Amino acid sequence: MKKELVIVIDFGGQYNQLVARRVRECNVYCEIYSYKVSLEKIKAMHPKGIILTGGPNSCYEAKAPTYSKELFELGIPVLGLCYGAQLMQHVLGGKVERADVREYGKTEVFVKQTSPLFHNVPTSSICWMSHFDYISTVAPGFSISGHTADCPSAACENVEQNLYAIQFHPEVLHTVEGTKILTNFVIDVCGCVADWRMDSFVEEQISLIKEKVGDGKVLCALSGGVDSSVAAVLLSKAIGNQLTCVFVDHGLLRKDEGDEVEAIFGPEGSYDLNFIRVNVQQRYYDKLKGVTEPEEKRKIIGEEFIRVFEEEAQKIGAVDFLVQGTIYPDVVESGLGGESAVIKSHHNVGGLPDCVDFKEIIEPLRDLFKDEVRKVGLELDIPEYLVFRQPFPGPGLGIRIIGEVTEEKVKMVQEADFIYREEIAKAGIDRSIGQYFAALTNMRSVGVMGDERTYDYAVALRAVNTIDFMTAESAEIPYEILNKVMSRIINEVRGVNRVMYDLTSKPPGTIEFE
Ligand code: XMP
Repeated sequence: MKKELVIVIDFGGQYNQLVARRVRECNVYCEIYSYKVSLEKIKAMHPKGIILTGGPNSCYEAKAPTYSKELFELGIPVLGLCYGAQLMQHVLGGKVERADVREYGKTEVFVKQTSPLFHNVPTSSICWMSHFDYISTVAPGFSISGHTADCPSAACENVEQNLYAIQFHPEVLHTVEGTKILTNFVIDVCGCVADWRMDSFVEEQISLIKEKVGDGKVLCALSGGVDSSVAAVLLSKAIGNQLTCVFVDHGLLRKDEGDEVEAIFGPEGSYDLNFIRVNVQQRYYDKLKGVTEPEEKRKIIGEEFIRVFEEEAQKIGAVDFLVQGTIYPDVVESGLGGESAVIKSHHNVGGLPDCVDFKEIIEPLRDLFKDEVRKVGLELDIPEYLVFRQPFPGPGLGIRIIGEVTEEKVKMVQEADFIYREEIAKAGIDRSIGQYFAALTNMRSVGVMGDERTYDYAVALRAVNTIDFMTAESAEIPYEILNKVMSRIINEVRGVNRVMYDLTSKPPGTIEFE
């Protein structure tokens, strides 16, 4: 059965992924496409609705991203948001101009409840605005259905043709009635039945994988992170020991992580699969000896990973499929999906497919957002501590040690990080911080311990809150917790005599401390 689909056409707005999230929260499947997607492709997908996102441009400028008029003549309901709203009006003969004042932030909006979009929405509520341009004249056939103090046409519509334009952002949680408005569009206007759910996803994927793989052999590079673990379990449920997972322990993992991964996926664990742990810790320490430059470390770690994997793959021989834990933001970020592409090439170890002899790639999580992957993980009974694991960079602790990486320093940062994570969890704030970890600086300074002078390293604690990991603010961790962590690290980690908290936001800093 073909699932019903709503598509989001991306004009480069910062909230494009949120739009798709909110639609999926209505239990309707949704995908994002760049505004460059052709009309033919759109028609072939038979979407039940189309949503146009915001974007940073002015639609009346010559080079601004646009879409042809035919998009609005397909008979498919269209909802334009912010730039998408202005574009719809501009293309259909309305007028968009620069306003005297920029409307930004929480704003009171007044709407007409007679509009199908605002059915059951209070006549006045708070919405999120972010625009300079505004619709000064609506297109022929449209009528105004909402306004704010500064924006005369905060919403307009052509109900007969199912075309809706709203200047504010219903996808942002600050818009109090946003979910209701999007639900009204997706369910009432587009007529979706809303039957897309996570548990059906698991069942559907298992049967799809079974069908695709048949009695073939499948290989998976397991990192112990959320995505590859969930992908591996899904595969194991579908095809059991036709799956082989290779886990490279490069000695740069968090404390006990290698053993934890083995306990779950190894022979004593709960899954039916072939598990190969490659212990190459010393090999990595040797390669990294004397190397201090962060990019060089990253390169060495990445290349060595490929070499190790290649050696293992050769032992296994040709396989039919290679599993990758690609998730939806990876697809969008690498520019394949939407428009606001942010390339993060360093985020995935490149080159893996080239070193394996395989016929096809399987990416079972390709359509999911991170928190949806976590939901699948819980559906599959994967332990919670693994499902809610924080992002951890491929090069591991190698890039959380400033200067030369040595086995001794790895131990120090592992212990300090473990204490930090333990105290944050004890305080019950672990799920409310975006990412947090300890790094080992290359600074040594004088201290006093008992009656003795010390000359030891300083640990830097990092904790950030972030929505998309592209920007971040340092998290406000209560002072008592930081104090406790400091005291435990100084007392329990040999070689460390100072603890500092990194307040830097991103930009100008990065989240990692390398
Ligand atoms: P930065 O330091 O660039 O980090 O602000 C942004 C996010 O990406 C993670 N990160 C990586 N993830 N491989 C990965 O899989 C990498 O090489 C890598 N470098 C950074 C980082 O932990 C943060 O979540």
